[in-house]
Amino acid sequence: MTAQDLYKALERVNERPKPYEFSTASELWCDPYRAEQMLKAHLDPDNGMASRTGAFIQRSLDWMTRRFDIGRETAITDFGCGPGLYTNALARTGARVTGVDFSSRSISYARSVAEQEGLDVRYEQADYLAYRMEAGSCDLATLIFCDLCPLSPSQRAGLLTKICDGLSEKGLLLLDVCTSAMFEAANEASNFSFRHLNGFWAEGDYYGFQRSFKYEEESLLLDKYTIVEPERVYEIYNWLQCFSQMRLREELAASGLKILEWYSNVAGDSYDPQAHQMAVVAARA
Ligand SMILES: C[S@@+](CC[C@H](N)C(=O)[O-])C[C@H]1O[C@@H](n2cnc3c(N)ncnc32)[C@H](O)[C@@H]1O
Repeated sequence: MTAQDLYKALERVNERPKPYEFSTASELWCDPYRAEQMLKAHLDPDNGMASRTGAFIQRSLDWMTRRFDIGRETAITDFGCGPGLYTNALARTGARVTGVDFSSRSISYARSVAEQEGLDVRYEQADYLAYRMEAGSCDLATLIFCDLCPLSPSQRAGLLTKICDGLSEKGLLLLDVCTSAMFEAANEASNFSFRHLNGFWAEGDYYGFQRSFKYEEESLLLDKYTIVEPERVYEIYNWLQCFSQMRLREELAASGLKILEWYSNVAGDSYDPQAHQMAVVAARA
């Protein structure tokens, strides 16, 4: 390889894409090897990467059960349910729960737990952007761990409108997002390492480059990963839209939703403008 070839390859690593130019969510979550790594992370109660820690999830479930008076009659749809850490726990209250996720590994794990415990949960392996929800059927929709943030503006609008249509008359939506405070604290950076993230990206040897970008105008963050295996090179893009209260209020309003309550997380802690995440409870406007 000439110096020119190497330079060009590194320029590609360093290249800033346009906002939301590439979408690689299914490569991130559904590739069989990575889905296995994700599952290990979800199931490790001390690892807050794929799901929040076990202690937080328990606190969150306790708060949700009280706040939404969850019980036998509650129809819940959990979007991006992963391996069912929330979904199965909510089903243990007797609620009628549906979990939607496009990762077959996560869904098969969630189903196996439900079967072992004899829980009545419906698991749908589906892209929630294409998932059809019965109109007016859902008392509580959840989108937990900032799952709105990697979606493009049109994907967000489509998902929120679908959720709004799916809510029953008194139905509520609980979701959390990254905040403007998180955007302010983020820096552009780059790093690379051999078997980056301890072998998270691929089974064999590889080099992983991580390039973090900030898009000031859009309040958007991107972690772009370039993975160089001996026989192939590919990129994974992890977008994170950060929200001010006004922006979140406007986006939800454009999809027919009205925010009723603000929190700093899905465990019901008081809203904190300095927090890097915030959670809201919304209803049909
Ligand atoms: C950050 S994890 C959160 C999992 C779960 N909500 C929790 O807090 O434990 C995001 C989940 O959303 C799923 N996901 C991401 N995009 C999706 C899509 N378009 N359709 C369905 N599932 C999706 C991923 O497979 C993953 O399980």
